[in-house]
Amino acid sequence: MLRVTDVCKVFESARGTYFALDGVSLTIRDGEFVCLLGPSGCGKSTLLNILAGFESVSGGTATFNNTAITRADRERVMLFQDAGSALLPWLSTEENVRFGLRVRKVPKVDWPATIDKYLRMVSLDSHRAKFPAELSGGMRQRLQIARALAVEPKVLLMDEPFAALDALTRRHMHTVLLDIWRRTGKTIVFVTHDIAEAISLADRIAVMSTGPRSTITRLIDIGLQRPRDMTNPKVAQLFNEIESLLTPDVLRSSERLEVH
Ligand SMILES: Nc1ncnc2c1ncn2[C@@H]1O[C@H](COP(=O)(O)OP(=O)(O)OP(=O)(O)O)[C@@H](O)[C@H]1O
Ligand SMILES: [Mg+2]
Repeated sequence: MLRVTDVCKVFESARGTYFALDGVSLTIRDGEFVCLLGPSGCGKSTLLNILAGFESVSGGTATFNNTAITRADRERVMLFQDAGSALLPWLSTEENVRFGLRVRKVPKVDWPATIDKYLRMVSLDSHRAKFPAELSGGMRQRLQIARALAVEPKVLLMDEPFAALDALTRRHMHTVLLDIWRRTGKTIVFVTHDIAEAISLADRIAVMSTGPRSTITRLIDIGLQRPRDMTNPKVAQLFNEIESLLTPDVLRSSERLEVH
């Protein structure tokens, strides 16, 4: 179980103090798929970095299975929007996955079967000799997922992983990810600013307010069967509800942009 309780995050710099997060509380159950949704700059990546152990909290607590998160840990892996720069360009597809196994100190004898398992899971087994530069954007994301899964983490922390993909590839990645989630039972925390993406993927959506002092303003239980029928009137209703939560924030932040 992942839990943040009353978390605050303050960034100190030469320019002064910035209060990014204030009073953020969220409990994520094992095997749950939670989306963090909010306007640009509200602190989604900051919260994900806290869950990963890359950032410390300035106040409150962040725990994984009731133990304080104080550093990065192989039980929680982060996946990024730019898979290309997350992968090792001088290693082939297969070698990128193998790298994860070496890090985890898996006995060498088990490497071939494990590599096959995860490359098959993301349908890259017939592309194993290709280098990242020879893969499409969607294939690179699938390789990033396979490499993360090979470490056998409990939690996938995904920071807008599909934001740079075209709409068709993105939809395909949703199917791939949901299939992997169902088969592996991982906990997934998925950051997006795309309302439809959050509705089609999540068990629950945590909606965040614009910073400074951003917090979770609403937790929405989707409660619809998967695969989600995006023409269901309940989807339109959820979309409008979330949009109305975000719109005043977006307007306020664009007004601020114009002023400065
Ligand atoms: N290391 C840092 N030092 C100072 N301020 C920071 C630092 N990291 C983030 N911030 C500030 O904290 C706020 C939240 O940033 P964060 O990257 O978490 O937002 P986000 O919701 O992920 O935005 P986006 O959707 O654009 O990725 C921003 O105002 C940002 O400028
Ligand atoms: Mg971000």
